[in-house]
Amino acid sequence: MDKNNLPEKGLNLLLLAAAAVPLAVAGYKAFKKVARKSLRKSLKDQVVVITGASTGIGKAYAIAFAREGAKIVLAARSTDKIAELAREINRKYNVETLAVTTDVAKEEDAREMIEKALDRFGHIDILINNAGIATYGYFHNNNMEDLKKIMDVNFWGAVYCTHAVIPAMISRGRGKIVNISSFVGKRAVPVMAGYSASKYAMGGFSESLRVEVKKYGIDVTVIYPTSTRTEIVNNALDKEKIKFGANIGMTSDRVARETVNAILDNKRDHVIGIGENIALSINNTFPSFVDTVMRIAPKLMIND
Ligand SMILES: NC(=O)c1ccc[n+]([C@@H]2O[C@H](COP(=O)([O-])OP(=O)(O)OC[C@H]3O[C@@H](n4cnc5c(N)ncnc54)[C@H](OP(=O)(O)O)[C@@H]3O)[C@@H](O)[C@H]2O)c1
Repeated sequence: MDKNNLPEKGLNLLLLAAAAVPLAVAGYKAFKKVARKSLRKSLKDQVVVITGASTGIGKAYAIAFAREGAKIVLAARSTDKIAELAREINRKYNVETLAVTTDVAKEEDAREMIEKALDRFGHIDILINNAGIATYGYFHNNNMEDLKKIMDVNFWGAVYCTHAVIPAMISRGRGKIVNISSFVGKRAVPVMAGYSASKYAMGGFSESLRVEVKKYGIDVTVIYPTSTRTEIVNNALDKEKIKFGANIGMTSDRVARETVNAILDNKRDHVIGIGENIALSINNTFPSFVDTVMRIAPKLMIND
């Protein structure tokens, strides 16, 4: 072997690998697109219950599933908003809709909403636990009422709805529970202890449930979006402390699109965003370093 040719051969191999990786990724994406196209058709006439459907990500879910021909149950506290959205998607996509005024933090409301959906459609294919609120500020300045409220809506709201729907899914031998957590449910950030805790709780709840209900034909998917341009900041319990506005991050439509794909791919969980996935890998390898970097976050996020 001519040793002088070795660097050249190495370079050629490197160039080949550099060309092969994007080609393989493009091929995989094309394959996924074709595979999802036929799966997409299966969403037609499925009954999808969405909590927190009056605005933001929940509204985007309602539109995304209606576009696929699903029957939509919209649940939130704002009666007028969900009624108007129900009419709008019924008109635009010619799908059946049901709007149920619901405060998911109240167990009886959550159970009644699921019962009304079952009465109307006979079964529920997909439950999306999306309703959520946020709170910011140093933990030592948080009041207990706000911290409890966050858990009541974000965690207990999902638990109540899931507990109400599971028996019907078990007896039917199929169903999907989709829980909307957050990037901060994978890597908590300072001045969001209560919110982060509620989103971690959702992840733990889902991980246990997923294994339990698999034998009944029920799948559990957790979605981890990062900053999304919605009303969440304006609706936060202590919004006067917050320095940043509602106009940062990804769009609700992107979150909805990626969630539909994650459901079609039957993923156990999905962290949205390449940068976010890289950040989590860095965090898993160097958590103390990330802790140090995070010390700057309170200054950027809140007026303390
Ligand atoms: N935006 C982000 O940056 C981001 C990032 C990661 C995860 N998420 C999660 O995504 C989900 C949706 O948030 P979003 O950004 O779309 O916020 P949003 O625009 O503030 O919408 C929140 C939705 O939840 C509903 N809701 C609040 N409290 C409720 C209750 N007690 N019972 C029933 N519904 C209730 C609201 O409707 P009513 O007020 O009419 O009840 C609204 O429809 C939340 O779980 C949030 O934690 C958001």
